[in-house]
Amino acid sequence: MKVLAIVSSARKVGNSEILAKEMLAALPDSVEKKMLRLEDFRIEPCRACYACLTSGKDCIIPDDLASVLHEIQEADAIILASPVYFLGMHTRLKLLCDRLISVMNEGEKYAGRRCVVAVPYGVADWQGYGVEATVSVARFLHLDVVGVLPVRAANPGEAVRPEILGRARELAGRLLSADAASPDSGDATAVVRQSTEVDDIACPVCGSGILRISTDGGLRCAICGTIGNLRATPAVAAMELQPAWTATEHFRYSAAGMAEHARRLEAIKADFMSHRQELLMLRKPYRDT
Ligand SMILES: Cc1cc2nc3c(=O)[nH]c(=O)nc-3n(C[C@H](O)[C@H](O)[C@H](O)COP(=O)(O)O)c2cc1C
Repeated sequence: MKVLAIVSSARKVGNSEILAKEMLAALPDSVEKKMLRLEDFRIEPCRACYACLTSGKDCIIPDDLASVLHEIQEADAIILASPVYFLGMHTRLKLLCDRLISVMNEGEKYAGRRCVVAVPYGVADWQGYGVEATVSVARFLHLDVVGVLPVRAANPGEAVRPEILGRARELAGRLLSADAASPDSGDATAVVRQSTEVDDIACPVCGSGILRISTDGGLRCAICGTIGNLRATPAVAAMELQPAWTATEHFRYSAAGMAEHARRLEAIKADFMSHRQELLMLRKPYRDT
């Protein structure tokens, strides 16, 4: 078995690297272990050319994307360690993430690989959407996320706390065990629950705490799209709000969910092709000023 740890932070021996290495160290010696830093690969921004949407076409940008994807395909399980930056995901991870549009329809090359995600962040209640965004990268890669570990640690080395290292080691064990729940099985909340500091309501399907709430109590997970509603139930001292969730047809990150999205993008591209001239005329005045 081969486990690959991907570290996005440029900080050498920073918290992401420490967490990744602690997880690798927790794995048995029989496991082949490797760590890569995104810093060492040249990944350019997506050009939104949609050339990759044509079946069988790879991304046309000549950089190191293929090397990173190859490393992932070579591994049996993945550790992703990436810090929160400005409430969201780390810059280098975002560059990689956008380029995953080119593998959206290639789930068979990645599916079945377990993944655990460690996300250091510096300030209490400043995780923003960073944890969810980081986890979404693993899911867009068709990986089976079996554990998420947000870690409050500002300065490099602050992640070295016995309880954190213990949780990191436990998480690494999930890459090996056969009985960890997967989000597709619908019972992932306990495994992927991401909120650590407050008792948030979490999406039961993907574990996200980022929910849109409408005035009539409707709930929508902003990350995976699962819907539900808030119900008021009389509690001992006051009214208590309880979420009730509705099963969706398929999980956004499942093979079927991603294939559906790829078809949607192909339709957008086809629409562009058929209205190209019209759109060109609309854009022309802006090009010439
Ligand atoms: C540019 C930048 C932006 C950051 N933004 C946030 C933030 O929004 N929320 C937060 O909690 N921490 C933020 N941090 C702190 C890092 O998440 C924290 O220091 C983390 O431990 C860094 O991980 P590393 O040691 O692996 O680089 C930021 C750090 C930098 C350098």
